[in-house]
Amino acid sequence: VVGVKLGILGLGTVGTGTVQLLQDKTGRHPLLQEIEIYRVGVRSLDKPRTVELSTDVLTTDLEAIVNDPAVDIIVEVMGGLEPARSLILQALNNGKHVVTANKAVIARYGAEIFTTANQAGVYVMLEAAVGGGIPVIQPLKQSLSVNRIHTVTGIVNGTTNYILTRMQTEGSNFSDVLADAQRLGYAEADPTADVDGLDAADKIAILASLGFGGRINLKDVYTEGIRQVSKTDIAYAEKLGFVIKLLAIANRITPSQEDGGTRGRGDAGTFSLSPLSVRVHPTLVPKAHPLASINGVYNAILVEGEPIGQVMFFGPGAGAGATASAVASDILNLAASLKSQTVSTKELNQSEIGSLNPLLA
Ligand code: NAP
Ligand code: HSE
Repeated sequence: VVGVKLGILGLGTVGTGTVQLLQDKTGRHPLLQEIEIYRVGVRSLDKPRTVELSTDVLTTDLEAIVNDPAVDIIVEVMGGLEPARSLILQALNNGKHVVTANKAVIARYGAEIFTTANQAGVYVMLEAAVGGGIPVIQPLKQSLSVNRIHTVTGIVNGTTNYILTRMQTEGSNFSDVLADAQRLGYAEADPTADVDGLDAADKIAILASLGFGGRINLKDVYTEGIRQVSKTDIAYAEKLGFVIKLLAIANRITPSQEDGGTRGRGDAGTFSLSPLSVRVHPTLVPKAHPLASINGVYNAILVEGEPIGQVMFFGPGAGAGATASAVASDILNLAASLKSQTVSTKELNQSEIGSLNPLLA
């Protein structure tokens, strides 16, 4: 039996959900038996916790976790840019695989992180970074990779979809509903990232990098949140046969669209085919459109490509349990590859590692 030792950075909504899932092994994949929660790093040891961990597991010394030779996989669920970025890089340089839910770090420092991973011959897994519990990263990276992707359109922020849905169905006030989204663990530590569309911008930048095979500079992503959407807007939209959704969209710009130069268009990245438009904004969605009926904390990502046509991924986009499902599946995949000693990651050549860390263009 190969024991796989985890160093988990963060024990908030996602960290707690992940620990709960990993501690409750009955009826789940047998390989979970071999995964040990070895260290968990937090900011405060005095905070009440809803999971039981022995005192030698919990620590405030996160650097010690990423430098501990016994740790196989670092699970970064602390959020924020620093020290998360530095700890991830340090872990990779120490030869540890990394699982992260941190779209903000990946959208800004993906190239640096994946270059470091490739050089160290280790993996970075990020299923939880987009769409909460929805499996969308792996399918885009692998199952859909032969397609020529034209458009990725998503509802990729659970908090704003939850707020817009309750404003529409109950006539609730924006600020009351935001407080509920925070209480339910959907919102970011700073909910401005949700409300102003920044979290959705990070996510569509990641999806576009995967779908179109290039790097997206966030400054090129036109970003507008839902602060200006009023109950009156929602009521008028309803009368006209639309719902208002915060959409994140990435598509190739055809020559005629380029000539038109629409306001707010984001021109992103350097691509071998035509350039991309990547944007986040409230959108009038016809009621018959598949994204119109995605309500509450649910997210959906509609991928259009050739030859596949349309594929839609749908599921819970935020919250402890859903996100833990994505984090734990990444852990399990890494544990399986660590256990199967058939192909050691150290033995893979750079191009093979590159294809597994595809945000590195
Ligand atoms: P959270 O509830 O705020 O938890 C953050 C955890 O990290 C806390 O345990 C905190 O310690 C710890 N932490 C933060 N900064 C630290 C530091 N400098 N040193 C030591 N510990 C530190 O956040 P969350 O909602 O779980 O989100 C975590 C990550 O998952 C973020 O990147 C977020 O974007 C992503 N994500 C969240 C969701 C969701 O539904 N919430 C879904 C998908 C992805 P204390 O407990 O001691 O304060
Ligand atoms: N705050 C994010 C959301 C968490 O509401 O979608 C999931 O990434």
